[in-house]
Amino acid sequence: MNIRPVRVEDLMGMQSCNLHNLPENYTMRYYLYHAMTWPGLSYVAEDASGRIVGYILAKMDEETSENEEPRGHVTSISVLRSYRRLGLAKKLMVQSQESMAEIYNASHVSLHVRQSNRAAIGLYRDTLGFTVKDVEKKYYADGEDALSMHLSLKRSV
Ligand code: ACO
Repeated sequence: MNIRPVRVEDLMGMQSCNLHNLPENYTMRYYLYHAMTWPGLSYVAEDASGRIVGYILAKMDEETSENEEPRGHVTSISVLRSYRRLGLAKKLMVQSQESMAEIYNASHVSLHVRQSNRAAIGLYRDTLGFTVKDVEKKYYADGEDALSMHLSLKRSV
């Protein structure tokens, strides 16, 4: 399994992976916007034949004012079912987080997750050290609440 920065020709595979895995879907224009605006933050996992089996779609927070520190945001991450529990999502998250800090000087990274999503919450909280900052009521289209989670990217020396 290979993890590498997303290229424009990967976007269809990324969208297909997203459609298989999540009810939160995006236009091709939105994928392209991420890849073009924040190169280095979105990654794909490909199998030996080059098929996209996982991705992370990430960006920098666009609502940061001049006197605030830059913040990264994970828009979406998923891994095809038969490739789960191999550590791919962890690697995708870590790669993107490192780029957020190194390229864009991000102080922390945030994301939203369904409060029923045990696998993803396990990944964010237990494996990566995210904490819950807030609960956003009825955040999702079907009325489910979201946990707003964040992680500091500042290294403790
Ligand atoms: N139950 C509990 N904990 C889990 C599970 C699970 N099913 N899956 C992963 N974890 C946690 C574990 O702590 C795991 O470490 P371990 O295997 O050493 O115990 C850790 O996460 C790392 O697991 P990975 O193998 O890196 O995770 P994986 O590649 O399987 O992908 C993911 C996890 C992305 C959540 C996957 O299950 C998936 O694609 N789910 C459907 C889509 C989804 O829910 N995406 C997240 C939506 S929120 C958002 O996009 C911001």
